[in-house]
Amino acid sequence: MELLDRLASNLEGLREQSLIRTRRTVETPCGPRVTVDGRELLAFCSNDYLGLAAHPAITAALREGTELYGAGSGASHLISGHSRAHAALEERLADFVGPHLVDARALYFCTGYMANLAVLTALAAGDRNTEIFSEALNHASLIDGARLARTPVKVYPHAGVEALDELLGTSHASNKIVVTDSVFSMDGNLAPLPELLALCEKHGAWLVVDDAHGFGTLGENGRGALEHFDLHSPYLVYMGTLGKAAGVGGAFVAAHATVIETLVQRARPYIFTTAAPPALAHALLTSLDIIGGGEGRERRTHLAGLVAQWHDGLRLQGWTALPSQTAIQPVVIGANEATMDAAAALYERGIWVGGIRPPTVPADSARLRVTLSAGHTAAEVARLVDSINEVNAHMERSRDGT
Ligand SMILES: Cc1ncc(COP(=O)(O)O)c(C=O)c1O
Repeated sequence: MELLDRLASNLEGLREQSLIRTRRTVETPCGPRVTVDGRELLAFCSNDYLGLAAHPAITAALREGTELYGAGSGASHLISGHSRAHAALEERLADFVGPHLVDARALYFCTGYMANLAVLTALAAGDRNTEIFSEALNHASLIDGARLARTPVKVYPHAGVEALDELLGTSHASNKIVVTDSVFSMDGNLAPLPELLALCEKHGAWLVVDDAHGFGTLGENGRGALEHFDLHSPYLVYMGTLGKAAGVGGAFVAAHATVIETLVQRARPYIFTTAAPPALAHALLTSLDIIGGGEGRERRTHLAGLVAQWHDGLRLQGWTALPSQTAIQPVVIGANEATMDAAAALYERGIWVGGIRPPTVPADSARLRVTLSAGHTAAEVARLVDSINEVNAHMERSRDGT
C-alpha cells in the first residue's frame, strides 16, 4: 500500500542516518544493576538519580496505597478522580517548595510533559497579548507547550542573559513568559536562574522553571533549583518531576495559588485526562520523607562523590566530557554512528549507557549520556570510567589507523 510504503521509506531514511531508536526490555526493577535478555548489566542511563525507584519503603507505600485506594482513579480530577492521596501530596509539595514562592499551592500531574504543556498554554490563554521567551536548549515538552500556546515565541541563546534582557526590553507584550530548564537534560549544566529571575522581575515577566532534573538532587534538603539558588519570588512558576529523583511517577507545578487555580480551570492537559492512580501519590509521600530527611542528604552527598570520581578518572582523547556537576554527565562524540558504536562497545562490556542523537541534541553533537545515581557504588563508577577510557582509546586508535 502506498501509504505504508511511504512510512517504510521514512524509516529507512532514519536507519541510513544511524537515527533509528530501539527499546531494550528490562526484566528487573530500575536500579544500578538490571537484567536485559537474561544478561546482567551495569546501568548508567536512568534518571533515578537518588536510587529510589525500587526503594523498599517506597514500594511498600505503593502497595499500601493500592490497598487504601485501589488500582486506578477512575476519572479526571474535576469529575471524581481526585482522591485524598492526591490532595495530601499536593499539600506536602506546596509546603516543600513553598518557602521559595508566595502564597504557594501545588498541583499533581500525570507526567512532566503534560505539566509543561499545561503551564504554557494556561498562562498564555490568560492574555491574548502574550509572548514566550524560550531557552535554546529547552526540553521538547517546553518547546511543544510553547507551540501549543499559539502565541509568538522568541528563542534566546543558551544561557544568554544579555540577549534575553534585550528581547524582553523590546517586547510590547503585556504578558511575558520566560521558560527554561533548570538543569539541562542533555548537558547537565545549570541555567543562570538568579540572573533570569532578576530580568523577569525587572521586565514584569513570569519565570517558568522546569526542574525535572533538579528536584530531589539539588539543594540542602533536595528542594531543587529554587533551594540551590535560594530564589524567592511571586513571579516563579515551578515544575518538578516525580518519576526521576523521586523514583515514582508524575510531576507537579507549584506557584502562587492564583496561578494554580488558573491551571485547574484552564489547563487542558490537567482537565481532560484521567487522574494518575492515587497509590502513586501515596507512595510519593514516602519519597518526599526520604528526599527531605537524613537519608536523602546522605544519598546526595554520595552522588556528589561519584560525580567527582568520574571527572577525576576520565582520560579522553577526541571526545569531550562536559563540565557538569550534576548527575547528568554527557560525553560528546559528535557523529551519530561513532556515538552508537561507542554505546555498543560499552554494552558488550556489560555497561549500559544511552547514545543521544539529533533531534534530541543539535546536529554533530551526538553524545553518550551517562547518568550517575546514589544507588551506584564507587567500584561500579570505577568500572564505568575504566571502560569508557578503554573504548575511547580503542576507537581513537582505529580512527587514526594506528
Ligand atoms: C527537562 C525535562 N522536562 C520535562 C520532562 C518530562 O517529564 P516526564 O518524563 O515526567 O513526562 C523531561 C523528561 O522526561 C525532562 O528531561
